[in-house]
Formats: sequence, structure tokens, C-alpha cells
Amino acid sequence: MNRRVVPIIDQRLPPGPGDELLRAASGELFDTRGRVLRDLRISVTDRCNFRCQYCMPRAVFDSNYKFLPHAELLNFDEITRLARLFVEHGTEKIRLTGGEPLLRKNIEVLVGDLAALKTTAGRNLPVTLTTNGSLLKKKAAALKAAGLARITVSLDALDEAIFKRMNDADYSVADVLAGLKAATEAGFSPIKVNMVVQRGVNDSQIEPMARFFRGTPHVLRFIEYMDVGESNHWQLGQVVPTREVISRIQAIAQIAPCHANYSGEVAKRWRYLDSKGEIGFITSVTQPFCGDCTRARLSTDGKLYTCLFASQGRDLRAQLRSGASDLALSSAIRGVWEARTDRYSEARSDARPSPQKVEMSYIGG
Ligand code: GTP
Ligand code: 5AD
Ligand code: SF4
Ligand code: SF4
Repeated sequence: MNRRVVPIIDQRLPPGPGDELLRAASGELFDTRGRVLRDLRISVTDRCNFRCQYCMPRAVFDSNYKFLPHAELLNFDEITRLARLFVEHGTEKIRLTGGEPLLRKNIEVLVGDLAALKTTAGRNLPVTLTTNGSLLKKKAAALKAAGLARITVSLDALDEAIFKRMNDADYSVADVLAGLKAATEAGFSPIKVNMVVQRGVNDSQIEPMARFFRGTPHVLRFIEYMDVGESNHWQLGQVVPTREVISRIQAIAQIAPCHANYSGEVAKRWRYLDSKGEIGFITSVTQPFCGDCTRARLSTDGKLYTCLFASQGRDLRAQLRSGASDLALSSAIRGVWEARTDRYSEARSDARPSPQKVEMSYIGG
């Protein structure tokens, strides 16, 4: 993570009247706690073909639920333009999420547009995607061809009954595994596999999932169930602390922690001591990682959020559609990031009532 954005103001020249303007348009951004902006997560649709009970419970996301109409979604040109401005502000990684991002028509075209920003950046700019895997069989090859760098697939259980109860949309484990296989064949390897663990729902699947992915190139990551949004009626008792997951894995295999790939990495990495690969733990509840959170989130309708648990975002779409210049948009991004104070997960136990949080399907996972 030593790469730095090349400043567009040449320091060897005498200062000129346009310098302040140019400065607003590029360069790294730091928030009030000294955290740099590094990752951009873009939600490309608020819709999903699953109804995971911890994310889009059917009781809320039913046939009466008002998803965003198409005209309110950022179009690909708008997304790419904003992404370019983020790249000029030091963003090094772009992740497409949703909802289910593969439901967005021609998503591979957007992947190609974003991957091409590498040229603007003059450095590596991986475009990555998090999916439930159900449409990967159809899409994996096109995504690879478009320049997608990595894929993360969600899978919460291997047991068919448990998986179907969780996704509540009649998708089977085989559908996701077929997606994983197609993605591997298309050249995405290793693939990260996200498992959200909920006590009393799928905690019986910890060992079977670990056994299944051990010895494969894929990296299984156990995620602590989080209180995102307002629909899932989260309770602390449903969280299985990572230390408990680790001791259960240690009962069946020898594992040890290893170094993070980069500073600010969300998952804590562990490896099997017999060289059978790697696993990860996302400890958002028991060991929050707000201290080095470098992520900005762009919602489906173009609002900029600086925390997964936020309630309000800055409307960049309104600015875009009223003809704002790059400079104005860039300054808006700067203003939002520089004012950022978020540390929701660290402050969770303060038990202060928080305002209505946005849903994960809208803000992006
Ligand atoms: P890579 O390291 O490139 O694979 O990216 P990643 O680990 O950030 O990607 P991924 O989308 O797979 O993140 C894993 C999961 O961690 C997300 O789906 C969320 O559940 C959780 N997560 C990611 N970012 C945050 C964050 O900023 N705050 C909290 N609380 N949870 C997060
Ligand atoms: N807690 C933890 N992880 C969640 N995800 C969705 N909702 C939650 C939640 N409440 C995960 C999904 C997917 C990623 C986008 O976020 O399972 O892996
Ligand atoms: Fe869809 Fe992912 Fe939410 Fe499940 S967790 S409902 S697959 S967006
Ligand atoms: Fe970042 Fe907010 Fe998550 Fe903390 S709770 S790591 S500030 S997104």
C-alpha cells in the first residue's frame, strides 16, 4: 500500500491562481481520524433474487416493497465518472455489490468501463465483485473477459434445508457451487467465500464448511452477524463470536494467524498448518476495525455514505444531474470524507439510540 497518487500540481512551478482549484480535484483524502480513502464500494442494484433473513427478510422485502425505479439508479456513465473522481482522490480498489450485482443488466459493460480507469490511475486498480453466486454460471466468463479482478461468493451453509431456510427463495447449495465452479473455470481463483454465522440458524455449519473448503484454493471467511439496517431485528445473542468459531475449527484442524495482505484488510487471515490453505474471520462485532476503515460507499441511487451503518448520505446524483463540473463533484467528495467521524462498530456498546440506518441491500455489503 505504498503507492501514492501522482499530484496533478507540479510542485516545481511557481504557485498559480488555479492551484487551489486543482488541489480540490485530486490527491489523497484523510478524515477527522486520519483515515485515508482507499476503497470504493458501489451498490449497482437494491434488488436481489435471494431473501436472506438477515439481510432482506421477506416480511419487509415483499411484493409491496418499493425498490428504486430504474430512472433513479445511477447509469453506467454516471458511475464511471464518479469512480474516476474517487480514483483521482486515491481510491485503489473498487468493489461492486448490491443487492445482487449480477441482476444489473449488462453489468460486464460497467466492469469493463471501471477496469479501464486503470489507465487514468496509472496504477493497478482491481475491480472486484461480491455476489450470491446464483447467476455466476451465466456470467463468469463475460466478467472475466471484461477485466474483473476478483470475485467473492456468499454461501452460508452446505446443508440444503438450512441454506434454503436462510435464502428463503428456494435456491439450492448446488446452484451456488455451480457458480463457484464456473467462476473457477473462467479463471477466478482463489475465490473468497463469505459465510455469515448466526447462532441457532447455521452455526452447525461451521465445521462442515471448514472441511469442505479446506484444501481448495478458496478462502472461507466467517462473518459475525451484524446489526445492519433496521429489518433484520438483530440481537447480540445471535452473534457467534469469532473466538468461538476459531476454537471450534481448532478442534478439527491446526490453524495459525498470518499477516494481513494490506493495512485495513477487513478479514483476519489464518492458515492451516498442514498447507491446506487459508481461512478468514470478519470480527465486526467483537473486534471492530473502524480504526483503519478506508471504505466509502456509493448507493444505488448515487448517495455517498462513509459507514455501513449510516443513516444519511450525500446526494451526488442530484449534483451530477444538475450539470455539476468534475471539480464541484470532486470537492463534494473531499468535503464528505474530510468531515468523516464514523466509528459505529466501536461505539455499538454505547447503547445510544441511533437514527434509522439504511439497509445493506441499498448501501452495498
Ligand atoms: P477483499 O479484501 O478485497 O476481499 O475485500 P473485502 O474483504 O473488503 O470484501 P468483502 O466485500 O468480501 O467484505 C467482506 C464482508 O465484510 C462484507 O460483506 C461485510 O459483511 C463486511 N464488511 C466489509 N466492509 C466492512 C466495513 O467497513 N464495516 C463493517 N462493519 N463490515 C464490513
Ligand atoms: N451481517 C453480516 N454480514 C451480512 N451480509 C449481509 N447482511 C449481513 C449482516 N447483517 C453479508 C452477505 C454477503 C455480504 C455482502 O454481506 O452475506 O456475504
Ligand atoms: Fe441478497 Fe446478499 Fe442480501 Fe442475501 S445477503 S439477500 S444474497 S444481497
Ligand atoms: Fe467502517 Fe463504519 Fe464498519 Fe466502522 S462500522 S468499519 S466506520 S463501515
